[in-house]
Amino acid sequence: MNSLFDRIHIRTGTASLKYDARREVFGRADVIPLWVADMDFAVPDAVQRALTERAAHPVFGYTIHPESLYESLLHWLATRHGWHIGRESVMFCPGVVPSLHACIMAFTEPDEAVIAQPPVYAPFLSAPEICGRKLLLNPLKLTEGRYTFDLDDLERCAAEDGRLLILCSPHNPVGRVWQKDELQALLAVCEKYAITVISDEIHADLIYPGIKHVPLATLSDKVNIVTAIAPSKTFNIPGLGMSALVVPDKADRAAINKAFGTLHVSASNPFSIVAFEAAYREGAAWLDALLEYLAGTRDLVRGFLRQYLPQIKMIEPEGTYLLWLDCRAMGLSDKQLKNFFVQEAGVGLSPGAMFGVQGCGFMRMNIGAPRSVIRQALENIAHAAAVYNQCLP
Ligand SMILES: Cc1ncc(COP(=O)(O)O)c(C=O)c1O
Repeated sequence: MNSLFDRIHIRTGTASLKYDARREVFGRADVIPLWVADMDFAVPDAVQRALTERAAHPVFGYTIHPESLYESLLHWLATRHGWHIGRESVMFCPGVVPSLHACIMAFTEPDEAVIAQPPVYAPFLSAPEICGRKLLLNPLKLTEGRYTFDLDDLERCAAEDGRLLILCSPHNPVGRVWQKDELQALLAVCEKYAITVISDEIHADLIYPGIKHVPLATLSDKVNIVTAIAPSKTFNIPGLGMSALVVPDKADRAAINKAFGTLHVSASNPFSIVAFEAAYREGAAWLDALLEYLAGTRDLVRGFLRQYLPQIKMIEPEGTYLLWLDCRAMGLSDKQLKNFFVQEAGVGLSPGAMFGVQGCGFMRMNIGAPRSVIRQALENIAHAAAVYNQCLP
């Protein structure tokens, strides 16, 4: 026990989706919950202090977005990612997913199509249809354990009237942090066919040592790029609900504002504002420590699987605290796979099929938890696999 990330926080009874919805989601309330993407770690002290100070003021009325909020975001992007943006390009929204919906409405007509790259975060697949647009799939290619873009297929999508691409960068669930040359090649196709890109960079700060995240918008001024960013995954405050869009074009901002108006999502709650600002202003050291801890846990999982569960292969993550586990060698259907993890191992993972059919045979494991919890989950899985193998004829 030598890290603040080793500390166990009892979350049951805090209206936590990850903990308190276990019976509903998994059919039993005692699974080790390594599913929905929040972490079990305490937020940086500065964030908790800012929230406590705000809570001490007894009035919680409607809010504005103060200048200091913009400054904290601009400073974070400049110092952490070398990305210098204008204050006027920033728009706030309670969540990235509502922003995706607003962008789809703002940038496409009902007869046009939106492109997504499965296996991918499920709302990318549902948002276009919810907004009355066609969804075009441009699946990632998996070669020797590494996912890449399929740009020939992206050209096919463009020919089928794909006007808007929702890019996941870094990618949930496959853990890729797209490199500059890959993004440049993708942008070349987008430029050729005038495809607008929404680059969802919510995981941009969660990058493993030796890897660098490149904000897509720093690579082109010819492609229309809208970037979604948030401190929510980085600093474990997703329940507070606040994110930002970087939208360089004035007419685009007006179109998105119109969509925000119909959804009534432009206001932020007072807690989200102070947490957002404190996290970006004072959270860098906490994040560095978190990244070191996550890298250690990732190494633990890799080593454990190799030694005790070789039938489960970890797709090497470059970013995010979400591990993409290739379970196809277990030879189980998706239903059997879910049943194995929940009923036999008592571990609640996200089934890969949630991310599109390309995720069948995979499971997503959230390692944003104390290492002792992850170790226990791995031991449960290994034990269940041993029992299962003994029962085979
Ligand atoms: C790629 C991606 N985008 C968006 C979200 C959710 O964002 P929000 O809670 O701000 O709507 C998630 C959450 O897991 C995610 O992985």
